[in-house]
Amino acid sequence: MVAIRKVGVVGGGLMGSGIAQVSAAAGFPTVVREVSQALCDKSRQSIEKVLGKGIERGKVTDAQRAATLENLSFATAVEKFADADLIIEAVVEDLEVKNALWSELNRIAGPEAIFASNTSSLTIIAMATASGRADRMLGLHFFNPVPLMKLVEVVRTITTSEETERRVLDFVRALGKEPIRAKDSSGFVVNLLLIPYMLDAINALEANVASVEDIDKGMQLGAGHPMGPFTLLDFVGLDTVQKIADIMFAEYREKRYAPPPLLKRMVLAGMLGRKSGKGFYDYSVEPPRVSALGL
Ligand code: NAI
Repeated sequence: MVAIRKVGVVGGGLMGSGIAQVSAAAGFPTVVREVSQALCDKSRQSIEKVLGKGIERGKVTDAQRAATLENLSFATAVEKFADADLIIEAVVEDLEVKNALWSELNRIAGPEAIFASNTSSLTIIAMATASGRADRMLGLHFFNPVPLMKLVEVVRTITTSEETERRVLDFVRALGKEPIRAKDSSGFVVNLLLIPYMLDAINALEANVASVEDIDKGMQLGAGHPMGPFTLLDFVGLDTVQKIADIMFAEYREKRYAPPPLLKRMVLAGMLGRKSGKGFYDYSVEPPRVSALGL
């Protein structure tokens, strides 16, 4: 089998834009597919903004920015993926949407092309049939923000071929990232451990063990974490955490994956964290202060 040369990224949101950026920066011609021209433009602008910040901080040179942008193209038509060697999917976390896409892509992509999903919580095997290429389908789980986070989980299913896994491990290394190998079980490695940890922090808060600030400070200064669990929850997004926990709970049926009542109430109230301006902290003031939760 030939090495990966051309890359397709489906979905130019938060993750897809980051994945496309690192792929293009590593020298792979990369095409991003979004559902409208406006969203293609938004993805390009967000990548340009990140590269601009990189230049300001001295992390990216003008030549690197130019080369990255040169390798990037944007399209609404899936036909642009006809000659891609690797197609990475980063659309909304919805199995029906993802599987409709895989069936469409299977008709367009070359027979050798590898399909990879960036899903956080779905099992990869649930997409293997729709992909029409169960041996060339795997999970490729990047972390947010993609340009900064070193780790990528490479997730093999019971049907993924060794050759496919090997080619994708090489691709991840070519991006300058560190791959770890994981089996196709919900949560892979990082979320399997991280989700119960974040849910436990909420349970501890509801049980009045300590305040939001003290729990955050405890894990930062006592466990050496770069940020406490509530800062992390706000960063990831409370709706995202709830969705992942729901899927993991459905898979394992264990209490430690069950979203606590307070998490559900905050999501219903639109307190989603940084992205909505308010979660465990209120970001409308500088510095952010702890939100009143009526506890
Ligand atoms: P997002 O909502 O920022 O982006 C999703 C994008 O997909 C949207 O721009 C939407 O227009 C586009 N889209 C929807 N259907 C499409 C289609 N048929 N063709 C092309 N584009 C389509 O979501 P985000 O956060 O980037 O997540 C994407 C995936 O990455 C999800 O599966 C999520 O679980 C996973 N993920 C998210 C992480 C995070 O921290 N947000 C971390 C790791 C994985």
